[in-house]
Order: sequence, then structure tokens, then C-alpha cells
Amino acid sequence: MPPSRALPALLRTVLRSTNPSLSFHHHHQTRLLSAYGYEQAKVLGLTSLGEPKDVLKLHSHSISPPHGDALTLRFLASPINPADINQIQGVYPTKPTFTTTLGTAEPLAVGGNEGVAEVIAKGGNVKGVEKGDWVIMRKQGFGTWRTHAQTTMDDLVVIKDREGLKPEQVGTVSVNPMTAYRMLKDFVTMKEGDWFIQNGANSGVGRAAIQLGRLWGLKSINIVRKRDSRMEELKQELQGLGADVVVTDDEVESKGFRDQVKEITNGGREDIRLGLNCVGGSIVNSMAKQLASGGHIVTYGAMSKKPVSLPTGLLIFKDIHFDGFWVSRWSEKHPVEKEACVKEVLDLTRQGKFKDVPMDAVKWEYRTKQEELVKAVQGTLEGYRSGKGIFVFGET
Ligand SMILES: NC(=O)c1ccc[n+]([C@@H]2O[C@H](COP(=O)([O-])OP(=O)(O)OC[C@H]3O[C@@H](n4cnc5c(N)ncnc54)[C@H](OP(=O)(O)O)[C@@H]3O)[C@@H](O)[C@H]2O)c1
Repeated sequence: MPPSRALPALLRTVLRSTNPSLSFHHHHQTRLLSAYGYEQAKVLGLTSLGEPKDVLKLHSHSISPPHGDALTLRFLASPINPADINQIQGVYPTKPTFTTTLGTAEPLAVGGNEGVAEVIAKGGNVKGVEKGDWVIMRKQGFGTWRTHAQTTMDDLVVIKDREGLKPEQVGTVSVNPMTAYRMLKDFVTMKEGDWFIQNGANSGVGRAAIQLGRLWGLKSINIVRKRDSRMEELKQELQGLGADVVVTDDEVESKGFRDQVKEITNGGREDIRLGLNCVGGSIVNSMAKQLASGGHIVTYGAMSKKPVSLPTGLLIFKDIHFDGFWVSRWSEKHPVEKEACVKEVLDLTRQGKFKDVPMDAVKWEYRTKQEELVKAVQGTLEGYRSGKGIFVFGET
């Protein structure tokens, strides 16, 4: 039987006298029931697809003590990525995972795909992880906008060394940095001093590409959308991460861009061999035209929702290749490399060589209201943001 949320005062006193480490919180809604090994969990989830503001609801359920292969997690940080929104809207290739195991009459899916959690209890058969260890999700579709979850090791990657790392850093390592890493490595063999060009350069992926590129001796031309305020600050911010050149989309689409690029690349003697496309639309043409023969444009996002249309000469005579990258597919195919890649980026983070993106932390406490959480998710759809939305769990 799930324990009652409001424990009578006498019972609380008795429990505390038998176990002094127990604590009780005297908020409106009394929390803490781990005396029984039960956890009261909350999830931000959906029972039907649609706009986040219309379909996301906060739902509570209780989690029993783990047995056998099961372990119980307490979430620490879960980002709100653009793909999470697309998934809720139903316009993403993978649908949210709907289930009735969380005690709802209708199947419910928990939002979010990325995050970091702490193991708080484990069943007798669980090996390779201890209480207190941090874990991230092995695959898409776990549902990370939740205070607690019960699962098995198949779904998890253990972070073996979390020394000096913040939950926000570990909780955002497996999508954006991984995407940037693979796109820079897996499509074109580049040597030190080669250039790449990217749009959406101030996105999470873009910032990761700037930094990894710099560490690997690559130079970057970075395109951001022109904005009325904070343009110079944004340029400087990206240059601080290692961007060689920062240009606006307006400049790229203007006539003078070709000459500008020539100047940047030592009279055209240094090759631009790779383009990373986060945005779509006509800007991709302007980027492709700057590539050396045989170069690749790798598309990973479609932030403008505009298609890419190409002059055929780029394909026939310049042999420009157009590829796509999807980190979910890559991670499923390469679980071992994924772990190695996560470790490498976290090591760089710890050494101060890889900075996390600006974040808008949304604190999720036991008493945080549904509307605050939903607002943060809905806000992710707006452009010109100051930081990536991320749920950071406090006392849950
Ligand atoms: N394929 C994959 O495996 C993979 C992996 C990770 C991410 N992604 C995709 O990559 C994209 C970026 O993700 P993220 O987490 O890095 O995002 P993010 O940090 O939230 O950044 C969003 C970026 O998109 C730009 N943007 C927003 N609306 C735009 C519009 N209408 N036109 C042009 N640019 C616009 C923003 O520029 P402003 O500052 O100017 O608004 C910003 O640079 C998303 O589409 C995401 O789904 C794909």
C-alpha cells in the first residue's frame, strides 16, 4: 500500500526516534516517505500530442522500493531541447513513450530525453553501480522531466568520474556536444588549419563545435542571426569560445560575402571543407558555395523550418555532398563510442577546456507548480534566447 503523504505527527516522532537520520518537511504538503523505501515522484507528461502548453500536465505517482534488477533514480538536471518540443508536438520521427505503468488510466508519456540522475536505491541483482552514482540515459525516449524514476541498467550509462562536474554539465553532454563532435569527425577528414562554416553558431551544438574545432586545430566561420541588441556581446562571447570569425546571416547573404571569405581564408588558399547546417533555407546555398570541391554540408537541425534547395552545379561540378546527422541513430549504433565520447567531453569540461552553454535554470522543487514548468518548456520555441532551459532539481 502506498504510504499516506501526511504522516500523523505521532508516527513521525516515533519514526524519528527509531531512525534519527530521517527528516520531515513541514510544508503544506508533507514530503518524505523513504522510511518505507517509497518515493513520491512527479512527472511532467502528456497523454496526447500537441502544443506543450496545452498537453503537459504534472502528475504524481509513488515508486516502491527496488527489487531484483530495478533501481530508483532521483533526477538532478534535465534540459529542455528543441527536439523534446517537436516530439510533444508529434512532428518528430520518434514518438514519446506512452505507458500506463505510472498509475494513470490513460497512457502517459514523460517529456524530455536527456538528463542526469543519482541512484538512490537498487535491487539485489544490480551490478556496476552504487548508491550515490550519477547516471545518464542510454537512449532517447526515457522521459527525463521527472523527479524520480525506477528502471534497470539497460537504460543507463554510469558516469564513472563526476569529480568537479555540475549536474547541468553532465545532464547536457550526450546530445549537443556529441552531435558537434561526430559531425566534425565523421564526414570529412580535416587537417589542422582547415576551416568549417556553420549557421546557428550560438546554439548548443554550434558552441560545442566552435570549442571542439578549436581544440583540434580547426578554424571556424560562424553565422548567427542578426539581432538589434547584444550583437557585439554575442560576437565576443563566441570568439571567447574560440570562434575565428563571426558573421551575421545578412552578411552571408550579401554580395560581398565571397570576397570576405577569400580574405579570411588567406586569399582562398585555405580550404573550407565542411559546413554544419542547424537552420535550413537559402543560407545553406550561400554556405555551400564557399566550400572547396568535394566538401560536405551536414544538416542536423531545421530551426527556420525552411527547406534547402540547391543549384545543381554544386552537386555536378563541385561535387559538394549533402549529409544528415541524427545523434539518436548514431548513439544506438555506437554505444561503446558514445561512452568514450561522453567521457572525453566531460574530461575536457573538468579541465576547463570545454564550457557549457548559457542556461536558464528552472528550479524544480517538491512544491513547484505545473504552470512554471510548462512555461519553461513552451518558451524553448522562442528564438533569441539568453540560455537553454534546464530543469534543475532541488528538494524533490
Ligand atoms: N540531428 C541531431 O542529432 C541533433 C542533435 C542536437 C540538436 N539538434 C538540433 O539542432 C538544433 C539546435 O539545437 P540546440 O539544442 O543546440 O538549440 P539551442 O541551443 O536552443 O539553439 C537554438 C538555435 O536556433 C536558432 N534559431 C531559433 N529559431 C530560429 C529561426 N527561426 N531561424 C533561424 N535560427 C533560429 C537560435 O538562434 P537565435 O539565438 O538567433 O534565436 C539558436 O542558434 C535544433 O534544431 C535541434 O533539434 C539536432
